[in-house]
Amino acid sequence: MEKKKKGEDKNMGKVAIYPGSFDPITYGHIDIVERSLEIFDKVIIAIAENADKRSLFSVQERLQMVKTIFKDTPNVLADNFKGLLVDYVAKTNAKVILRGLRATSDFEYEFHMASMNRSLNTHLDTLFMMTSKDYFFVSSRTIKEVARLGGGVEGLVPDLVVRRLKEKFKLPVKKKKQISWDD
Ligand code: PNS
Repeated sequence: MEKKKKGEDKNMGKVAIYPGSFDPITYGHIDIVERSLEIFDKVIIAIAENADKRSLFSVQERLQMVKTIFKDTPNVLADNFKGLLVDYVAKTNAKVILRGLRATSDFEYEFHMASMNRSLNTHLDTLFMMTSKDYFFVSSRTIKEVARLGGGVEGLVPDLVVRRLKEKFKLPVKKKKQISWDD
């Protein structure tokens, strides 16, 4: 019997893979997923395990956060993968890779990656969605930097991620000290 592929069921419809590091997931990513569900029946958030890239959260921690955030959205699956993205995609029923674009500065990197993936698998297309204007300045990298230095990232990442960042950076959950001119 042929092995069931990820994202496969009787009425599987259109499946997209949304790959990334998600270290950690932000509202920018979540916005892309939610909007993509207008186009696709199922979206698989595929968290890359990249040995070359130092991540703040382990792949299991990232996966747990994503699963919790989308626990009430049955057409969003969360998974992790090692190695080439095209090899992972081949194990699923997806025909499309989904990526978010924040600014033209993202384009060159994304263009190279999409072209390489297409050369590795000519049946695979990458679909780009513009990040919503509310999040175009949000990246996992800047979120981590701001959180590490004690800045607020509420409203840019889900509360669960805010808590996990505070735990990682061992930051107390305390009221901000007000600085007045009289101090
Ligand atoms: O969120 P990121 O870090 O921009 O995501 C990049 C990611 C994980 C999508 C990309 O690095 C990737 O696909 N890695 C898997 C390895 C691979 O297939 N590399 C060849 C693509 S050029």
